[in-house]
Amino acid sequence: MCGIVGYVGKRSAKDFLVEGLKRLEYRGYDSAGIAVMQEVKGTQKIYTVRAVGKVINLENKLSEHMSGCIGIAHTRWATHGKPSEKNAHPHIDCKGTVAVVHNGIIENYLELREMLVKKGHTFRSETDTEVIAHLIEEEMSASDKTENIFEEAFVRTLKQLRGAYGIVALSVHDPEMVLVARKSSPLVLGIGNGEMFIASDVSAMIGDVKRIVYLDDGEIALVRKESYTVKTLANRMKEKEELVLEWDKSVAEKGGFAHFMQKEIFDQSRSFADALRGRLILEDGMARLGGLRTVEKRLRSINRIIIVSCGTSYHSALVGEYMLEEYAGIQTEVEMASEFRYRKPLLDKKTVVIAISQSGETADTLAAIREAKEKGALTLGIVNVVGSTIARETDAGIYCHAGPEISVASTKAFTSQLAILALLTLYVGRQRGLSLVMGKRIAKELLAIPKHIETVLKQTEAIKKLAKKYGRQPHYMYLGRKYNFPNALEGALKIKEIGYVPAQGYPTGEMKHGPIALIDSSVVSLMIIPKDSVYEKNMSGMEEILARGGKIIAIATVGDTAIQKRTKDVIFIPKTIEMLTPLLAVIPLQLFAYFVAVERGYDIDKPRNLAKSVTVE
Ligand code: M6R
Repeated sequence: MCGIVGYVGKRSAKDFLVEGLKRLEYRGYDSAGIAVMQEVKGTQKIYTVRAVGKVINLENKLSEHMSGCIGIAHTRWATHGKPSEKNAHPHIDCKGTVAVVHNGIIENYLELREMLVKKGHTFRSETDTEVIAHLIEEEMSASDKTENIFEEAFVRTLKQLRGAYGIVALSVHDPEMVLVARKSSPLVLGIGNGEMFIASDVSAMIGDVKRIVYLDDGEIALVRKESYTVKTLANRMKEKEELVLEWDKSVAEKGGFAHFMQKEIFDQSRSFADALRGRLILEDGMARLGGLRTVEKRLRSINRIIIVSCGTSYHSALVGEYMLEEYAGIQTEVEMASEFRYRKPLLDKKTVVIAISQSGETADTLAAIREAKEKGALTLGIVNVVGSTIARETDAGIYCHAGPEISVASTKAFTSQLAILALLTLYVGRQRGLSLVMGKRIAKELLAIPKHIETVLKQTEAIKKLAKKYGRQPHYMYLGRKYNFPNALEGALKIKEIGYVPAQGYPTGEMKHGPIALIDSSVVSLMIIPKDSVYEKNMSGMEEILARGGKIIAIATVGDTAIQKRTKDVIFIPKTIEMLTPLLAVIPLQLFAYFVAVERGYDIDKPRNLAKSVTVE
């Protein structure tokens, strides 16, 4: 959480910093701030401006005279200390010689703060971050050297910190350099032409750079406008791989849509096709997954899959569990990453642990993968952001190629993850007895999905009307069985996140064990009820709700006239095989949540209390 940007170059730093913060605002929007190095009458000074709330509030406070070419900035998702101007980053030391922005949590900040106060430092905020600025100041004043004092003080400071951090700092003692450090909190450098960019997420620098370098844990970077150096805390130089950033500027813009969430929902036909591109071998009913080549042999010997993930990625994993067990015939378990590592999981060399993550930076998922590696399991990543930490730390993996997902509420990442899970099912399944006929059938149906997605999207107006009709209900139930039970969870998560409405996702068959007590005429149930192997069972569940006066919005298969006799509110999805129905059924759920939140007037792309990448545990 929190967005960080930095710039060292030849133009006014403020312009990129503000633009970068706007692009990272989805990572936190409690406050924002900027610090720029500026020469005044021959002396370098740090100018800091901070504001509560969104980046626009900060932008409105900035003066034209802030023209320095080196700066750092931050948009905050509060952890320590409430959202206020004094708690906004950048934080500075007593003398105003150091400015620091930070993402993460410094666990020992109270003891450090106490020590620094005893030494005479004055604190102005309630944050954990401020100790970093004062520690650097303290270390610089304790130094008897005249050269490299900022860098050395920075390293000595880092060695005293416990917890997680992505830190970017500047100091008047070396006014042409920005220092960067990473431990469990992502940071990426962007290499421009005579200018360097720093950000906690590449999306901040799309359009500005083509070459990027991800920092790894325990590394620091010394960034100047023409060059950068990466070292370890033990002062060992590191050779870093430079990656090409493929995304162009248009992917970071709304492109005529009212919100990024809407744009991303409508992008799903394209993103799904991109996830499949070059990976399906129709005539063999097989998938070609280049990212797994290095572990192909080991994969043949595994007998158990564990998938770890969070939120929406957890829901796609649950669909994957059904796919992999039914068609690949391999024991599969899904675990919330935040629980996995504290459960003493039993793992061995025949277990593969798969992390699913849009961002590739989710702290819980990363911790789960590290735990699995330590226990000797093979680890794979199903990740969207190329070069992200989970992508780099897993033994092998498959990218989703969904393109950047900006909206906090995840949509296209979900359907892309399902595409990859279906490909994985073919890949593993065809090695383990999935028939050619079935393999070909799945492959053919997968290829038809982008067109089907477009068909579902054509019903947007009908879904909007349902949101108008039912958008003020106090409570929603989401129900589905088998492959669509995870979709019930996903639908409920979406409306909770952006509509702030209590909603529960349940397997339809579980209703009678308790939740049905909630049903009365004030409750709307969204039932996912395609013509599949559990259709009749689902229908019985529907009858039970209707009998108790509950209202139903059904998501059903085109041509199902029986449903229309039971409720007028039906959204139809095209026919496909059972395992792929979640791909189509989730779209009305995403749109319904979207329009309910619009109806209620909420900030769709930046829902309260949430951040896009959850990089703290
Ligand atoms: O980047 P990840 O896929 O690892 O993120 C996991 C969750 O934090 C994420 O899916 C979250 O639940 C979304 N806001 C859901 O819309």
